Amino acid sequence: MQETRLDTARIRAARQVIDPIFLDTPMYRCEALEPDLGCTVSIKLETANPVRSFKARGTELVASLLADNGSRAVVCASAGNLGQALAWSGRGRGLDVTVVASRFAPVAKLDRIRALGARLELVDGDFDLARERAATIARHDGIRLVEDSLDIETCEGAATIGLELVDTVPSFDAVLIALGGGALATGVGHVVKSLAPGVEVICVQPLGAPAMTHSWRRRRVVTTDSTDTIADGVAGRCPIPAVLDDLLLVADDAVLVRETSIIAGMRMLLDHAGLVVEPSAALGIAAILEDRDRFAGRHVVTIVCGSNVDVDAYHRWVGAAPIHRS
Ligand SMILES: Cc1ncc(COP(=O)(O)O)c(C=O)c1O
Repeated sequence: MQETRLDTARIRAARQVIDPIFLDTPMYRCEALEPDLGCTVSIKLETANPVRSFKARGTELVASLLADNGSRAVVCASAGNLGQALAWSGRGRGLDVTVVASRFAPVAKLDRIRALGARLELVDGDFDLARERAATIARHDGIRLVEDSLDIETCEGAATIGLELVDTVPSFDAVLIALGGGALATGVGHVVKSLAPGVEVICVQPLGAPAMTHSWRRRRVVTTDSTDTIADGVAGRCPIPAVLDDLLLVADDAVLVRETSIIAGMRMLLDHAGLVVEPSAALGIAAILEDRDRFAGRHVVTIVCGSNVDVDAYHRWVGAAPIHRS
């Protein structure tokens, strides 16, 4: 494999820095999902932690480096989960955390960012506008800007999931990874391709937020003017070139799924796994639902990566979803 920006030894070392509460998350075969999906399915559960997503693996690294360097303040843009995670990691290390988010982000995410003690600034636009605003604040205040997926620590933190996958699951054929900015996919993908190269690394995005997938397919950055998906955690319009370069080295495929499949996936995770998840965390199940033949008879791991969802919206989506019968 050609070199990505990541390094497996650094990822192993990162495990020593991340609070153990975010590490060694449950990993289990979920047989109840299998009749409807037609393949062996294992879940890597990244929601049973204080911020209900995998993002704290990365923010633990970011915040501890900042604290070691004597920094006092940090700012990031967030769709909601990174901000919550940075607020958690920064609080424990005495950092002043500012999070910039869209005012359209799920209320549950915004409330938790505030509850964890961060200063929250809302922009009247989407995540990519929040990115611009966070960069302006960093320049103006002279503080550190954390850029998810570009800052290597955010990828290394996510990559520790990959170590746990290859170290604990006896054998699997494919891993399905929700694709947003790309920290999760490039991190996990780097480890899997380094240590278990036969495993297929498949990234999944909604049809309504396809910029990174289109970029991966065309091998150059493709932006979109807008996004239209309930999967708010992966709804970016402007892929980062360095992250795309890494993704091109580690992903075997990038697929797009319909909103109806995302909702069906959420419903299945509730019915058969007892898991309330946010839409981005159902992308893997959605990908299987849309292409059962591709996965038939194989052992597939899906990373259930977040569960921060507005309860009313969740009931609206999942309550209206048809029950899946094969
Ligand atoms: C729940 C959830 N899933 C997936 C992603 C996408 O991760 P990445 O931006 O690392 O590609 C995010 C990003 O915040 C997320 O919050």
